[in-house]
Amino acid sequence: LRGDPLRLGILSTAAIAKQILTAAAATPTIDAIAVASRERARAEAVARDWSIERAYGSYQELLADGDVDAVYVPLPNSLHAEWSVRALEAGKHVLCEKPFDRRPERVEAAFDAAARAGRVLTEAFMYRYHPQTERIRALVGSGALGALRTVRASFSFRATEAQKVLRLDSSLDGGALLDVGSYCVSMARLLAGEPEWVFAELDPAETGADLRAYGLMRFPGGVVAQFDAGLDAADWGLHVVGSDGVLVAAEPWHCRRPVIEIRRPGEPVETIELERADSYRLELEAFAAAIAGRPSPLLGRDDALGQARALDALHRSAASRLPVEPAA
Ligand SMILES: NC(=O)c1ccc[n+]([C@@H]2O[C@H](COP(=O)([O-])OP(=O)(O)OC[C@H]3O[C@@H](n4cnc5c(N)ncnc54)[C@H](OP(=O)(O)O)[C@@H]3O)[C@@H](O)[C@H]2O)c1
Repeated sequence: LRGDPLRLGILSTAAIAKQILTAAAATPTIDAIAVASRERARAEAVARDWSIERAYGSYQELLADGDVDAVYVPLPNSLHAEWSVRALEAGKHVLCEKPFDRRPERVEAAFDAAARAGRVLTEAFMYRYHPQTERIRALVGSGALGALRTVRASFSFRATEAQKVLRLDSSLDGGALLDVGSYCVSMARLLAGEPEWVFAELDPAETGADLRAYGLMRFPGGVVAQFDAGLDAADWGLHVVGSDGVLVAAEPWHCRRPVIEIRRPGEPVETIELERADSYRLELEAFAAAIAGRPSPLLGRDDALGQARALDALHRSAASRLPVEPAA
């Protein structure tokens, strides 16, 4: 593979695949050569629009294509683990959309399959690849805010009726907690470690899946994270509170205007402006580098497992209306 572009296949004609195709077109390290859909005509239409060589009428057909080195899995949440495992068993490396899966046992089984196959498996939390996220982590880690006290994160967007069909289907693991709350959980874990216990409240839509999610997570050292997430409002942001100051990021997830503010009592606000960057491109390049044997991607087995344990505990807390300790 060294030197040659990574030959990527896309499993489905998901809306988010456009971001990955745009990023792939912008980097010489990736060549999108195949797309598959449950309906061949849909795959053919995407192939035409994006000048992709091969279109398949089933995901399995794409997995049988020996020229495909790696696949991107942007399927509904409940299908992530299953199709990742099928792809790994077909010898492909896998970049799978977030949330990988909320069931720790499925995450373990998928990473076991990756280890058996000797292939890379990674979760596509694109915000983790943006330099803004690394700067936030480094600032907090170096004590720029003093001792960490609280992480307050929010991510809501107004889903269109079309977007709600998949996102509010509980049989496909829809719901605000997994869809957008998972970013808040990921950031809290990045900054504070693994939670000792969590509490959640989920407001269901008519389908039974959560339209809004509210969470509290307690971390070692007394650090607390609070978050709210929803599919019916437009709100996103991050406040990281330390003993000496507060870090504010207005765009922590899409990072379109990457600016970090640090507010300390009695001092002028410190503004850190970062260069714009395409998180999807950085994510794809890190994936290709990991496959070529360079540093492993930021998001491996431990992170996906920690994420699943936290999300699963939040779901169990909402069902029992009690605080829950994540499974060890
Ligand atoms: N990282 C990000 O920035 C980001 C942003 C948005 C979404 N996501 C994630 O990406 C995934 C896809 O989200 P999306 O909004 O792009 O989804 P979407 O547009 O609704 O596409 C999902 C695709 O899955 C395929 N599919 C297979 N079985 C299906 C079923 N039973 N019902 C519906 N579709 C089925 C369909 O493709 P075919 O019909 O072609 O087979 C469909 O186009 C989700 O896991 C989501 O959390 C990530």
